Amino acid sequence: MGQETLRVLISEDALQARVRELGRKIREDYGEDASITCVGVLKGSFVFMADLVRAIGGNVRCEFLGVSSYHGGTRSTGVVKITHDLQKPVEGQHCLLIEDIVDTGLTMDYLLKMLHVREPASLKVVTLLDKPTNREVGVEVQYVGFTIPDEFVVGYGLDLGELYRNLPYIAVYTP
Ligand code: IMP
Repeated sequence: MGQETLRVLISEDALQARVRELGRKIREDYGEDASITCVGVLKGSFVFMADLVRAIGGNVRCEFLGVSSYHGGTRSTGVVKITHDLQKPVEGQHCLLIEDIVDTGLTMDYLLKMLHVREPASLKVVTLLDKPTNREVGVEVQYVGFTIPDEFVVGYGLDLGELYRNLPYIAVYTP
């Protein structure tokens, strides 16, 4: 303990600029009049989602899915536990699943299957970060903020043992 370091990987300015860009692109793709049901994956996506839904603009509904896949460590266990389910049906709605990071892809794969059976009109995915090195299962992600190397990152919603979510930038954590 006491030796850990944080190195800025993506600055606050770079994050904000990319999120605005993603929001504009998403709104353009769905169309000005489209109503989008944004499904945020808790807890990691809450900071990204708050900025992204404002960048998307127009008619947006916000729903949340709570999952826990790490249980405090830095490696994915592959076991996804639903800690909070959607509060409203999404049948017939244009759903945009919002993730903080796709690593092995196991969490996303599980969530996509779970949402598909609820019969949305369409289902797309946006992730702030993509860490493709460790992918164990192929998942289709329509919008990616940044592709990053295989390092453990924190900040802007991402945590280590529930800490660092409030950093306004993304940093590499070294124990
Ligand atoms: P996956 O199932 O391996 O794709 O992992 C997805 C989940 O693991 C994300 O939603 C994060 O909560 C967590 N995760 C993966 N990599 C990192 C990281 O570098 N920092 C913090 N959390 C991570």
